[in-house]
Amino acid sequence: MHILITGGAGFIGSHVVRRFVNSYPEYRITNLDKLTYAGNLENLRDIESRNNYRFIRGDITDGDAMLELFRKERFDGVIHLAAESHVDRSIANPTEFVMTNVVGTVNLLNAARAIWKDAYEGKLFYHVSTDEVYGSLEGGGGMFTETTPYDPHSPYSASKASSDHFVRSWRDTYGLPVVISNCSNNYGAFQFPEKLIPLFINNIRNEEPLPVYGKGENVRDWLWVVDHARAIDVIYHGGTQGETYNIGGHNEWRNIDLVRLLCSIMDRKLGRPAGESEKLIAYVTDRAGHDLRYAIDSTKLQGELGWVPSIRFEEGLEITVDWYLMNQEWLDGVTSGEYKNYYRRMYGG
Ligand code: NAD
Ligand code: DAU
Repeated sequence: MHILITGGAGFIGSHVVRRFVNSYPEYRITNLDKLTYAGNLENLRDIESRNNYRFIRGDITDGDAMLELFRKERFDGVIHLAAESHVDRSIANPTEFVMTNVVGTVNLLNAARAIWKDAYEGKLFYHVSTDEVYGSLEGGGGMFTETTPYDPHSPYSASKASSDHFVRSWRDTYGLPVVISNCSNNYGAFQFPEKLIPLFINNIRNEEPLPVYGKGENVRDWLWVVDHARAIDVIYHGGTQGETYNIGGHNEWRNIDLVRLLCSIMDRKLGRPAGESEKLIAYVTDRAGHDLRYAIDSTKLQGELGWVPSIRFEEGLEITVDWYLMNQEWLDGVTSGEYKNYYRRMYGG
């Protein structure tokens, strides 16, 4: 079994690569990644010399290169995570999101179909997507199920929704064996510190402002990244072809409540007086088109495949804070250079 994992040097991808390399020594795992600002081979140091693992630097927007790679390597399966993933960047530069998330996904679908040549037995194209395609749960109630109509609002979520449609169209038109999962917000080690939790951990550590968008009342449903990687494994091996699975932690938090919890954990770990880090909270202009609430109903995944989250959020957040505090070199490395320039352009300073 030779599996291509795209975007394996990113946050979630590195956890998926690690899980597959460790759990399936009999598989060959190829990680294809362009190494954008978000991709970092440091995330995979612990498994990079394993016999069943190989890294290839490549760009999924290059259709010819993808076709050539698939023809040469004859992958049996694809787990596709490579994407531009940050909503704020999609607002600043939407075209890049169309290129990577839409065109890149179509290139991979074309390449998979070309080498599998309609002889699909034992093959699988697994597309990793997001709950943001379903839009925003306004008015308090309800949860996203697999049949919730798509209603994306940001260029990021529109590009992911589009890629999901293309994957399903390859299933319906060409019979390609596909599976899609839509997951809620992930947190954990190796997340690039532009996303809420690692950004705020880093800013608290450096005693810098914590830019809470709007009133901080937006709600997200947080899942430990290790549990997401396990869900992807469970669905890859046990899911039904052609189906969609929602993945979520049943763990909704208003941003401001999460930020306050994070501040209190950080105060304790850094030996600062209780309440000290909360003084860093700065309410700033809201994100354009900011979705109010996401909440995932993962009954289908839990019922059919027996997956459940392994850890309570408070515990997962403690582990995550510990990881960032113990890996300050990693944080410093990814917050220098290009990222700092981008951050200045976005937020000033
Ligand atoms: P990330 O930004 O941390 O990593 C993305 C990876 O893709 C990086 O390693 C980057 O170098 C690579 N990449 C980008 N453009 C590429 C290209 N053109 N060719 C090859 N590689 C390229 O993202 P993440 O948070 O790990 O998300 C991974 C996937 O999971 C994405 O598809 C995202 O939409 C989805 N997702 C993320 C979350 C979340 O909370 N982070 C939740 C649900 C779904
Ligand atoms: O729901 C899944 C999605 O979760 C993934 O598909 C995306 O790839 C991932 O980036 C994430 O999107 P969000 O926009 O929800 O995550 P982010 O960490 O950017 O923001 C979380 C919430 O915190 C959101 O309501 C915006 C808010 N926020 C974020 C940042 C970076 C702030 O208030 N201040 C900030 O500085």
